[in-house]
Amino acid sequence: MPYSEDPTMQLSLQKASLQKLSEVVPCPAQEQDDLTEQDLLLAAQPTALFLLDDAGRIRRVAGAWEEVTGVHPEDAVGTPMASLLRLPNTRYPEGLLTQEGSCDEAMLRSQLGPRRVRVVWSRSGRYVAGHLERLDVSARSTYDADQALLQLTGELDEAVYCLGMSLDSWQSSHVERMVGLATRLAEALTFTPEQVKAVRWGAALHDVGKSRVPPEILWKNGPLTSDEFEVMLHHPVWGQDIVEKMSFLPADVPAAVLHHHERYDGNGYPSGLAGENIPLTARIVAIADVFDALTSVRSYKPAWSYQAATEHMIAGAGTQFDPWLVRVFVLDVLGFQHLKSRLDSLFPD
Ligand SMILES: [Fe+2]
Ligand SMILES: [Fe+2]
Repeated sequence: MPYSEDPTMQLSLQKASLQKLSEVVPCPAQEQDDLTEQDLLLAAQPTALFLLDDAGRIRRVAGAWEEVTGVHPEDAVGTPMASLLRLPNTRYPEGLLTQEGSCDEAMLRSQLGPRRVRVVWSRSGRYVAGHLERLDVSARSTYDADQALLQLTGELDEAVYCLGMSLDSWQSSHVERMVGLATRLAEALTFTPEQVKAVRWGAALHDVGKSRVPPEILWKNGPLTSDEFEVMLHHPVWGQDIVEKMSFLPADVPAAVLHHHERYDGNGYPSGLAGENIPLTARIVAIADVFDALTSVRSYKPAWSYQAATEHMIAGAGTQFDPWLVRVFVLDVLGFQHLKSRLDSLFPD
């Protein structure tokens, strides 16, 4: 059946096709009116309908059969469906003769050239009924591209974490925990998914610059000399230098890496930024970083309790940390609602 964009013309063509079809495949005697209505309904279907016998041969076709397959209904009847349609062997060893199924990867050996089609079928007694539809090439390639992008984004996420965790085993578990804390804080602030991703990656990479600190300083047992301390203080700048070369990272990520040791009162490093001049992502990472460092065991200190660490965060609200972020962190991330009135008192009217 030729194809027309005009619906009226299309219906006429379908009727004409149907006439030919009823000549080829006579139906059992029925009321003429019932036959017409039933077949009109079938002819109006936008997909290629088929009915197979128990040997997989085509008994009847309808709907947009000829438009989809390029095979005239007269030529189709009696033909083994397997000669027209190829399904992935490993997944469908019995082809269409299974109970039911659907497959988006079927290949139609059409007279119009090979076509990728979707086929859906189900068995009823000795017969298999189903339909074929063409997969729109642009929709399919968009879907494939989306899937590939999704996979790539997941792999990128993993790569970013691996990079942030590569320094040593403590850093690895520290990063894992603080990414969780920073992500929950960003979500509590109702950030968009893109903003949450920037926070997550900023947290993962916050100390990546330590990879340029000489090992004898980074892992020194005992207090650092002032010169060694100066070297250590340079890690945010080295970190930014490393991550800003990664063009796929959102701009907030290098900013978070560079400024994660700034203080709200301006006494932090490396730039001495204060208040809201410190990028928001960096202020979030700073809270997650310090809270996790306090509540972790280090060679030089035991793990603080959550209660003691929370007191430290509240004491630092407005000096070390952004006070509003401390409020959201304590109430919504840690869930310490009993501290609400104390935290509210940080913001007198
Ligand atoms: Fe750091
Ligand atoms: Fe850290």
